[in-house]
Amino acid sequence: MAFEKEILRRRTFAIISHPDAGKTTLTEKLLLFGGAIHVAGAVKSNKIKKTATSDWMEIEKQRGISVATSVMGFEYRDFKINILDTPGHQDFAEDTFRTLTAVDSVVIVIDCAKGVETQTRKLMQVCRMRKTPVIVFINKMDREGKDPFDLLDEIEAELGINVRPLSWPINGGMHFKGVYNIYKERLDLYTPNKQRITESIEFKNLYDDKLIDFIGDDDTKKLRADMELVNGVYNPFDDADYLAGNLAPVFFGSALNNFGVKELLDCFIEIAPSPQPTQAVERIVHPNEENFTGFVFKIHANMDPNHRSCIAFVKICSGKFERNVNYKHVRHGKLMRFSSPTAFMAQKKETVDEAYAGDIVGLPDTGNFKIGDTLTAGEELHFKGLPSFSPEMFKYIENSDPMKTKQLNKGIEQLMDEGVAQLFIHQNNGRKIIGTVGQLQFEVIEYRLLHEYGAQCRWEAISLYKACWFESDNDEELADFKRRKFQYLAKDKEGRDVFLADSNYVLQMAQNDFKNIRFHFSSEF
Ligand code: G4P
Repeated sequence: MAFEKEILRRRTFAIISHPDAGKTTLTEKLLLFGGAIHVAGAVKSNKIKKTATSDWMEIEKQRGISVATSVMGFEYRDFKINILDTPGHQDFAEDTFRTLTAVDSVVIVIDCAKGVETQTRKLMQVCRMRKTPVIVFINKMDREGKDPFDLLDEIEAELGINVRPLSWPINGGMHFKGVYNIYKERLDLYTPNKQRITESIEFKNLYDDKLIDFIGDDDTKKLRADMELVNGVYNPFDDADYLAGNLAPVFFGSALNNFGVKELLDCFIEIAPSPQPTQAVERIVHPNEENFTGFVFKIHANMDPNHRSCIAFVKICSGKFERNVNYKHVRHGKLMRFSSPTAFMAQKKETVDEAYAGDIVGLPDTGNFKIGDTLTAGEELHFKGLPSFSPEMFKYIENSDPMKTKQLNKGIEQLMDEGVAQLFIHQNNGRKIIGTVGQLQFEVIEYRLLHEYGAQCRWEAISLYKACWFESDNDEELADFKRRKFQYLAKDKEGRDVFLADSNYVLQMAQNDFKNIRFHFSSEF
């Protein structure tokens, strides 16, 4: 069937990294290979500049660009590649977590000098939870960095995944000469050039004396010794292990110099998975099922304050999506038809007539969707979303303009549906608490409430350490816990019980005193 072929040739993935490791640069180089863009620097504009860390206006301006670059699709060889962009700013980490629910694999970029950093660690946790296959790209090899063996050890220890180098660097920094491409058994020589594609040289094997002509006697010896060690320490690359999310192949290169990027892409299309089955509450959905199913993983608000319109990003999980066909919005139990769905090719959005499992379509929306909503050809089906994680920062949100209470409440509800932050209702006093992963989100909420809903809010400090969801099979103990900890209890947006611990000590005490209660730091357990 033609449509099965379409699905098999799709590769939908995200590039993730700690800010500054080179995600934007790598994305851009990949797009250059796909012919999706023609000049370097085109993607850069999407990046929230470091100077704007707490300047929401600046980010607002840049958001216009980021709608178009949220998904970057391009054709490479016989493959249709969809790169899902993830916000670089760590205050939007929750957005990135959700994007990871819509990809079939991930490329992690690591700075060779900095190694594994906080944000990488957090994102990898989500990949591990979902068993997402990951490829590691160790970037900035043109700069002095850590020893490659040390880096690999660090990745294994810190990210909790086995690694297998598929390329090996010949020196680094000033003396970087290139990489030995283990996967293709050839030598890729490094020439610093931001636009040029790597030239690679074929050898019979590592003991071919021609090698010395290119990298000299000493480096040839070292490379041979390194490779012996690599082959001794690491098991041969195993496809199945990678696909199961247990083994990460590692590449070395320099995105800025366009070195090692083509090798990464060529290997990626060969080993990375085509669209994978998706777990719904009722059953597992396979991509090549004939009927369309999909879910909303991201909602992008329009910048125009006069029109509260959004774009809901839908990942197609099975079948074919068609324009102007009725689909069921399962939560609302009603049929909806979309006359102008958009697909994302390179940096353009365009109306599409059809899209296939693995693709992302953007549906213009005026408040019908929330994160996690399922669309189907008629089936009563619910895709499982990503759980919410305990926020890191909390504030009471209060109304500054009593005439606008309705607007404020509506605004808060819709922004939460969009997944901007998390809302908790304190059981003791009924007050609303907003939980975020960073200060910037509070600014986003305040700004958007004012500009999109005409509501004014003010923040009041609350000192909280963690919000954790809790449950127990012991009804008596649960009732006792709720009675004694009443002043620490809240409900989340879905009405689930949440314990608000104001310090690690309080949390530990509760865990000690109530042995039959399970505390969870994410909402799915
Ligand atoms: P991010 O999206 O992960 O945050 O990182 P981004 O690609 O923006 O890269 C961060 C910085 O690292 C940029 O420099 C970029 O040019 C540089 N960079 C990326 N890849 C390499 C590489 O392979 N080698 C070297 N030496 N540098 C690299 P910047 O000064 O912050 O930005 P810009 O002024 O170059 O735009």
